[in-house]
Amino acid sequence: MDSVHEIAITGQNLPAKYIYTDSINPSQDPSIPLPLLEIPVIDFNRLATPSIGTGEELERLRSALSSYGCVMVTNHRVMVTNHGVESSLMDRVRLVFKQFLALPMEERLKCQKEADGFEGFGSDMMVTKDVPVVHDFSARLRLTTWPEDKRQMKYWPEQPHDFREVLDEYSSKLLVLHDATLGAMARSLSLDDDDSAFLNAVREGGSISARFNFYPPCPTPDRALGLKPHSDGTVITYLLQDGEVEGLQVLKDEQWFRVPIVPDALVLHVGDHLEIMSNGEFKSPVHRVVLNPERQRMSVVIASFPEEGIQIEPLEGLVSGEKPRLYRQVKYSVVDQVGYYWSGTRVTDDARI
Ligand code: OGA
Ligand code: NI
Repeated sequence: MDSVHEIAITGQNLPAKYIYTDSINPSQDPSIPLPLLEIPVIDFNRLATPSIGTGEELERLRSALSSYGCVMVTNHRVMVTNHGVESSLMDRVRLVFKQFLALPMEERLKCQKEADGFEGFGSDMMVTKDVPVVHDFSARLRLTTWPEDKRQMKYWPEQPHDFREVLDEYSSKLLVLHDATLGAMARSLSLDDDDSAFLNAVREGGSISARFNFYPPCPTPDRALGLKPHSDGTVITYLLQDGEVEGLQVLKDEQWFRVPIVPDALVLHVGDHLEIMSNGEFKSPVHRVVLNPERQRMSVVIASFPEEGIQIEPLEGLVSGEKPRLYRQVKYSVVDQVGYYWSGTRVTDDARI
């Protein structure tokens, strides 16, 4: 049985493995909440429509990703294909996951992750290291969505009955948005002759997966975290937030900020591997998830990854006399990524020259 669920259902006190000895100060002083981060909002439609100011919007994108490392993306219509992520589809994605969570335990266990596996429903894979680590008070369902021949259907819920159909539709729309986003990112850095420069790292042997995160209510939110501080070991990450309950926080200038809920917007994070490929032009933001004493929270992440074993390094076009190379070559390894996560370190620190 998944222990996070068990605790959530029985309402028992949190076992020691979830407890931080120092208060993690979800809001420093509960009566004065942490400030809201004013994340720049990017209108995706403008990125693709020259007559309404593509250049300006590209510059906003570049500047936001180089200082915040994240943006809110609205109006996700990619003109060429006319693919939009409608808010009704976002609601359906949230709904099927909520319905999945409400299923009897034995039904959910049909999708259970194996202890040393990556896909399926459960808590994070544990790394065998002697360092004492605090566990995240959350559970997640992780499923590869692209390429389609890498989907492991045995982990895809059969209940609720439309779960698979909804995820299939959402992930295909996000795939189009993902590719267009990486193209726009390359253009914003004037990699015009090759606007697939970043995209190639995913399209050639890489993968995209969905992660449905579940954060139960927590009786001691000042002593536990939904996700520990981390940056994403991805290329990019698109996050669909809970429609009602906040929890995501971003570290900026050594201060934690709350990420607001913006209806119909997706949160885009630069991943560590994109930071390296961009030679540090884009920053991969450190973020965490705090818990709510009364309410559960969920989120749905679509993230892209390079091919296992591939070498990641700054693009040649982004290294010059004025912009010296900031990172050495690093080999992408999913197991290393898990190790970085648990130990609170980052591949970007290892790679930095
Ligand atoms: C993640 C993540 C944030 C959230 O899954 O890597 O940072 O709000 N999720 O769930
Ligand atoms: Ni993250």
